[in-house]
Amino acid sequence: MNPTNLKNRNLISISDYSKEEYLKILDLAEEFEKYPRQDTLKDYVIASLFFEPSTRTRLSFESAISQLSGQIVGFTDASSSSTQKGESLKDTIRTVCNYSDMIVMRHPLDGSSRYAGEIATVPLINAGDGSNQHPTQCMLDLYSIRKTQQSLDNLKIALVGDLKYGRTVHSLVEAMSNFNTEFHLVSPVELKLPSTVKRFIKNANLNYYQYTELEDVMDVADIVYMTRIQRERFSEPLEYEKVKNSYILTKDLLQGSKDNMRVLHPLPRVNEITEDVDDHPKAYYFQQALNGIYVRQALLTAILGLK
Ligand code: CP
Repeated sequence: MNPTNLKNRNLISISDYSKEEYLKILDLAEEFEKYPRQDTLKDYVIASLFFEPSTRTRLSFESAISQLSGQIVGFTDASSSSTQKGESLKDTIRTVCNYSDMIVMRHPLDGSSRYAGEIATVPLINAGDGSNQHPTQCMLDLYSIRKTQQSLDNLKIALVGDLKYGRTVHSLVEAMSNFNTEFHLVSPVELKLPSTVKRFIKNANLNYYQYTELEDVMDVADIVYMTRIQRERFSEPLEYEKVKNSYILTKDLLQGSKDNMRVLHPLPRVNEITEDVDDHPKAYYFQQALNGIYVRQALLTAILGLK
C-alpha cells in the first residue's frame, strides 16, 4: 500500500489527512520499524526549524532523517537565527525553501504553521504550533495505540491533564473521532477540552464524559493518555500554581485497570507520572517516543513521494 497521494502535501493539522491516509502512514511506519536504516533520503535536504524547545520531536525527526541518509539544515533556537534581528517568519520560510526539499517547523504561535505552509514552495510539516496542533505526535500516538490494542476501533480513551492548551490532545481527539472512540476527559475545570475540539466528537456522533478525578477512569480506559500541565501556556503564574499538580499517576492507581490498558504520555513529564510506574508492564510512554522515529520516516518519505 503506497501513500503516494501524500506527495507534496503539507501536514499542518491532523485533519488535513483522511482516516485512510492515517492507516497508510501507520502501515508504512511498520515497514520502517523493521528496516529503519535505508538510503531513501540520499540527496535530500530537510530543514528543521525549531522556534520553541523540543527534545523528542526534533531529535526523532533528525534521527529519522539521518537513518535514511538524508541531510539536515536548520536551527534549534530562534535566537541563533535572523529572527533575532527582526526577520519575519515569511522571509525566513521563503529563504529556507531555497535551501531544502522540505521544512519541519515548530513555533510557539497557534496558526503559524498554516501561515508558513501557505508561503512555502516545498512541503511543510507542523512539528507543533502553540496550543493548536501536533500532527506528527498524533500519528505516533495512533501507531502506539494500534500496536498495543491491535486495532484503533471501538476503544475507550482517557485523556488526562491540560486538555485546553494540550496540542497533542487536540490532534488525538480529532484523529480518534474517526474510530468510534469513547472519550473520557479528565481535567481541572479551568483546563477543559475546548468546544472547537469537542465538535469533532459530536460531528462523529460519539460520546464523551467529563471528570475532574483521575481515579474515576482508571478501570474504564483501554488507554490512559497523561499530559503535562504546561507552565509556558499560562500568562498568570498563580493560575498555573493552582492546577500544576492536579493529576499524579502512581503505581497504586494501576491496580484494577484493564489487562490491556496502557499508559501513554507525549512527554516531557514533570511529575504527573511517578517514576515507579516506568518499569510497569502497562507503561508504554518511552516506547511511544521511540515509535516517533518510524512514523516520521513514513511521513517524510511519503510526502517526498519516495514511498
Ligand atoms: N512530545 C513532544 O512534542 O516532545 P518534545 O517537546 O520534547 O518535542
